[in-house]
Order: sequence, then structure tokens, then C-alpha cells
Amino acid sequence: MARVALVTGGSRGIGAAISLALKNAGCAVAATYAGNDEAAAAFTKETGIKTYKWNVANYDDSKAGLAQVEADLGPIDIVVANAGITRDAPFHKMTPGQWQEVIDTNLTGVFNTVHPVWTGMRERKFGRIVVISSINGQKGQFGQVNYAATKAGDLGIVKSLAQEGARFGITANAICPGYIATDMVMAVPEKVRESIIAQIPAGRLGEPEEIARCVAFLASDDAGFINGSTISANGAQFFV
Ligand code: CAA
Repeated sequence: MARVALVTGGSRGIGAAISLALKNAGCAVAATYAGNDEAAAAFTKETGIKTYKWNVANYDDSKAGLAQVEADLGPIDIVVANAGITRDAPFHKMTPGQWQEVIDTNLTGVFNTVHPVWTGMRERKFGRIVVISSINGQKGQFGQVNYAATKAGDLGIVKSLAQEGARFGITANAICPGYIATDMVMAVPEKVRESIIAQIPAGRLGEPEEIARCVAFLASDDAGFINGSTISANGAQFFV
């Protein structure tokens, strides 16, 4: 039986590459998205991967959406918590709204996505949780107090889930991508982006597929003893 995989924010950017990599690895994949109907429809048309619309920041919506995916595809074996947003601003200009929106989506969104499927994974004695964190959760980033807090929080989540899930065959790991060529990075002002690329020893942005291949490995049956880990994929920009 094919493993069933759920990828939040799975129709665009890094998430789209992850959805596709898991499909190519033989999984039945469901990809969620929050708002961009057009991109989701195009993604489904191109890949055959079904998309589901809900807001990961809302627990009840997430629970209902996950139940629908399980009704359509079967019990979820693999969760890739990838959905994330930025609301960058220097701290003195950051509003409580910018703080809360990022916390709700990037951090509470991980809880909302994993919690409803956790009991089923424990019962079935198998699960793979992969959380997409960030280099900026490891090193911090000027203008990203909110985002860096959530991405550092992801590392605490997987290290704790790993300890709770290990004896039930569940692994939880994080990937910290560096700067990847996606809309999110392209939204950074060009001058700032150029200065960031200058700090990457690889001399280039990463490709979404370079993150997706890490996810496919961590989600595979072969990766059962890798648990609570953080994999950095950042072109040598930062070492922990
Ligand atoms: N370090 C030190 N000082 C900095 C700085 C930095 N990295 N960036 C800006 N500054 C300084 C500016 O030079 C300026 O100084 P002066 O007032 O003396 O001229 C001061 O900070 C204020 O800068 P701005 O007026 O430009 O502030 P702003 O309100 O326009 O906002 C910003 C700036 C939104 C933070 C902008 O610099 C920015 O977008 N930075 C990029 C943040 C970033 O890396 N985001 C990552 C997005 S991609 C992502 O998140 C994916 C992932 O996981 C990697």
C-alpha cells in the first residue's frame, strides 16, 4: 500500500517540489493551500496531486480538512508541515498583528497539522513528521523576530515529538533550508537579496528540489532511526 502524505502549503514553492518528490517516491499525496486557488488548480492540473484549501492557523479547519484527506486517501502516514509566511519588519516597527499572524501560521500551524493525526500514527505504529524550519531559526535574522521565533520553535517541536513518538515508530525531524529560489525570497528587496546571496558560499540560491529530496528521504521507511534531527541545507551559509 502506498504511504499517504500530507504537505501543507504544498502547491507552491518548496511545498510544491516536496509534494512532487513524494508522489515520485510512490506516495499518495494531498497538498494544502491557504488562498491561491489559481495556483492550486494549475498545480493539480500539471501534477495530478489533489489540493485542499484550509487555514493551518485554525485548529478546527485543520482537523476537518485532515479528516477529509483521510476519507479520500486513507490514514495519513507522512506529514510535512511546510506552510509558512513572512511579515518582515525591524522590531521597532513590527506590529502585534505582524507578530501574531506569523506565530499563528508558522508555529501554531504545526501543532494544528500534527495533533489531529498523532493518535492515529501512534495506534498504527508508524509516522513521519517533517517540519520545514529555516536557517533563520538557527541564526536569527534582522527584520524577522517573528519568523525566527517560529522557526526556532519548530526545532523544539521535533525534538520533543521525537522523544514521544519513537517507541511508536514515529519520527519527527526538521529541515532548515537556507535561501531558496521561491516567491518568498524573491519578495525581499532586490538590494537586500543581492547582499544575502553574497553571503552564501555556494554563490547561489538553493533550488526547491534540493529541499524536497531531503524530505523524501526523511519520510521514507529507510529513515526510521533518524529522529529529532535538524538537517541544514543552506549552501554553507551557516553552521550550527
Ligand atoms: N543588518 C544590520 N542592519 C540592517 C540590516 C541588516 N541585515 N538590514 C537593514 N539594516 C539597517 C538599514 O541599513 C537601515 O539603517 P539606517 O537607518 O542607518 O539606514 C535600518 O536597518 C532600517 O532599514 P530599512 O529602513 O530598510 O527598514 P525597513 O523598514 O525598510 O525594513 C527589512 C527592512 C524589511 C527588514 C528589510 O531589510 C528586509 O526585508 N530584510 C530581509 C529580511 C530577510 O532576510 N527576510 C528573509 C525572507 S526569506 C525567508 O524568510 C525564507 C527563509 O526561511 C530563509
